[in-house]
Amino acid sequence: MAVLSTSKKLLLLLTIVLLALASISHGSLPLTEIKVGGEFGWKYGVNYTEWAMNTAPFYVGDSLGFYYKNSSLGNFTIYHNVHLLRDFEHFLNCDFSDSYEVADSSQGEGGFEFILSELRPYFFACDAGEGFHCRNGPMKLLVMPILRSWIPFVPCKPDNSTDLV
Ligand SMILES: *[C@@H]1O[C@H](CO)[C@@H](O)[C@H](O)[C@H]1NC(C)=O
Ligand SMILES: *[C@@H]1O[C@H](CO)[C@@H](O)[C@H](O)[C@H]1NC(C)=O
Ligand SMILES: *[C@@H]1O[C@H](CO)[C@@H](O)[C@H](O)[C@H]1NC(C)=O
Ligand SMILES: *[C@@H]1O[C@H](CO)[C@@H](O)[C@H](O)[C@H]1NC(C)=O
Repeated sequence: MAVLSTSKKLLLLLTIVLLALASISHGSLPLTEIKVGGEFGWKYGVNYTEWAMNTAPFYVGDSLGFYYKNSSLGNFTIYHNVHLLRDFEHFLNCDFSDSYEVADSSQGEGGFEFILSELRPYFFACDAGEGFHCRNGPMKLLVMPILRSWIPFVPCKPDNSTDLV
């Protein structure tokens, strides 16, 4: 069995901590819609790691909107889609084995909505060009939603929620 890389260990640890906390907190969550990539949408040439860092935190219950459409380059059609990759290692390597297509090339025009319904990391990527978009775009996005009730830990508007007393 391969030794886990440091980053993978960290991710596992983070996941465990989050899962432990999940059992403590409950509450109904207001839904927030977040447009992936902001004004750029889901396209080649945007650094989604940077976008995610600037946009975080993401919360369980938030929905991500993926907006994309086909374009042409000479005789070629350039298209995009949204896959969910299996784990962090597959994400790092743009490995689409065991990946799951959540939205195909025709679903981005009106915006494809994906709800972050679970407390777990989500690994998104575009598999167009046999992974070229993922490797070189780099059209890949890692999102780790946290719980709404963590708000007091984030410098944000305080409220009178009672489940943290
Ligand atoms: C994307 O942004 C992150 C964070 O700033 C950086 O570490 C990474 O090298 C960037 N990736 C590319 C392909 O520019
Ligand atoms: C594009 O398509 C046209 C018509 O089929 C063809 O004549 C041309 O060689 C193609 N161009 C390239 C770069 O493949
Ligand atoms: C985009 O291109 C793909 C692959 O060529 C095609 O299947 C899809 O229907 C196209 N989508 C739109 C909205 O034209
Ligand atoms: C929070 O609760 C306190 C005491 O119950 C109350 O005085 C205060 O107005 C509340 N603040 C808000 C923003 O609701």
